[in-house]
Amino acid sequence: MKHWWQKATIYQIYPKSFKDSNDDGIGDLQGIIEKLDYLEELGISAIWLSPVYQSPMDDNGYDISDYEKIAECFGDMSDMDELLLEAKRRGIRIIMDLVVNHTSDEHAWFVTAKENPNSPERDFYIWRDQPNALESLFGGSAWQYDEKSQQYYLHLFSKKQPDLNWENPALRQKVYDMMNFWIDKGIGGFRMDVIDMIGKAPDKGITTNGPKLHDYLKEMHQATLKDKDLLTVGETWGATPAIAKAYSNPDNHELSMVFQFEHIGLQHLDNHPKWDFTSLDVPRLKAIFSKWQIELDPTEGWNSLFWNNHDLPRVLSIWGNEMTYREKSGKAFAILLHLLRGTPYIYQGEEIGMLNYPFKADFSEIEDIESRNFIAEARQAGKQEETIIESIRKVSRDNARTPMQWDDSPQAGFSTTKPWLPVNPNYQTINVAKALADKNSLFYTYQALIKLRKEEDWLVDADYELLETSSKVFAYLRKTTDKTYLVLVNLSDETQSFTSNYTIKDTIITNTKTPQTLENLTLEPWDAFCLEVD
Ligand code: GLC
Ligand code: CA
Repeated sequence: MKHWWQKATIYQIYPKSFKDSNDDGIGDLQGIIEKLDYLEELGISAIWLSPVYQSPMDDNGYDISDYEKIAECFGDMSDMDELLLEAKRRGIRIIMDLVVNHTSDEHAWFVTAKENPNSPERDFYIWRDQPNALESLFGGSAWQYDEKSQQYYLHLFSKKQPDLNWENPALRQKVYDMMNFWIDKGIGGFRMDVIDMIGKAPDKGITTNGPKLHDYLKEMHQATLKDKDLLTVGETWGATPAIAKAYSNPDNHELSMVFQFEHIGLQHLDNHPKWDFTSLDVPRLKAIFSKWQIELDPTEGWNSLFWNNHDLPRVLSIWGNEMTYREKSGKAFAILLHLLRGTPYIYQGEEIGMLNYPFKADFSEIEDIESRNFIAEARQAGKQEETIIESIRKVSRDNARTPMQWDDSPQAGFSTTKPWLPVNPNYQTINVAKALADKNSLFYTYQALIKLRKEEDWLVDADYELLETSSKVFAYLRKTTDKTYLVLVNLSDETQSFTSNYTIKDTIITNTKTPQTLENLTLEPWDAFCLEVD
């Protein structure tokens, strides 16, 4: 039996930047409702909604102060209920972001924990008399001193994001109750923020993949997800195929799938921080995707497929061609990814080929906490200003967070006031209205790929096989018992050659003129197509 999410394409919305309905410069739930018709036209099955819960917004909502309230800047619970209803009417499910590795320091649990060290809430968090060497992923020590109790609390992200203590069964039950509150509202599932960290063993220096992680997830499944066909996807930066199987093997009753980031690791130099970016290594990309395709056979697990999210640079700016082949390279990345086995995710703006933002050299436009911390630390370490600017422009998380470009009116139709992050100056050429008006635009390639996945079972069933090709060409076969599909992509600005004995039966999708034969073929830059072959 197939799950709905095996034939679905998911669209990620970063609410602050999607659509502002009341002209305060911040996207909101009514803005999303306004754009549901657009998403229906694109054809997606579900929205992964980045956090909209009550939050002081130290990390744009990934610091939650009340899981059962909506942040005022986004609307209120009646707007949320309306979104669920309006989405459902269009066949779209809502996947909520579940951030339970940490809360905000303004969450009532933490406020009580701090005020009253004898309260039960104290043990919902992780307190020690002495800090150890653990570092925050946003820079600096992971321990923050609390004057009053003379203890330190753990925060693997900002100090306004204290880590929850999953060892405490009462805390776990509170999390499950909260999940059931949302499930009862009729949501389609959860995207689980840094879920691989909940089993941490801080005294041993273990932060990810801790000893009890999978016990907790099995318990969570029993308490919340059981017998409901929800989509659950864990964010797991360090997952290997073996680890991904532990989460997503249907017999294990944990999650539907995880986001693995091995291909994203190619964006920077090996064993370097992400700020030391590098160009695309196609042979390594092929090796990584092939490994994941082969190892996560559907009886043993399931893949998620993505190039972009709210933490990553725009794929066209890091690996594609931003100028001459912007749309064509966008189509090439889309075709390559969406015909693999797994559930594809599109990040807002990806479907119209949005690009990174040309941040000013004085960094006055940077909002992101991770980027700000990096700038301060890099300066302190004596890094050249030029190098810091380059890193920010290439990989800062704010690149993905500039407002969605709807049309060519001021503020790109996102808002009528100055938005919280500036609109990319390219909005007059790159926007939704323009994309919809051009039948050959990238938008329609995504639309076709989404439709294909809904309609064609081979995308789920067919086996995967990599073909030997020259280094910049990515060619793979998808094979069922009676059909063979070839996906062929030139991931470069140069022509490439390719040859094969297969004969062409049918064109499934293409961003170029499809050839008559596959023998001694010359591929133009960023040519990409899928053919049924014999
Ligand atoms: C995840 C989120 C990221 C956030 C972090 C802490 O990595 O995707 O945006 O900053 O978790 O919650
Ligand atoms: Ca607003």
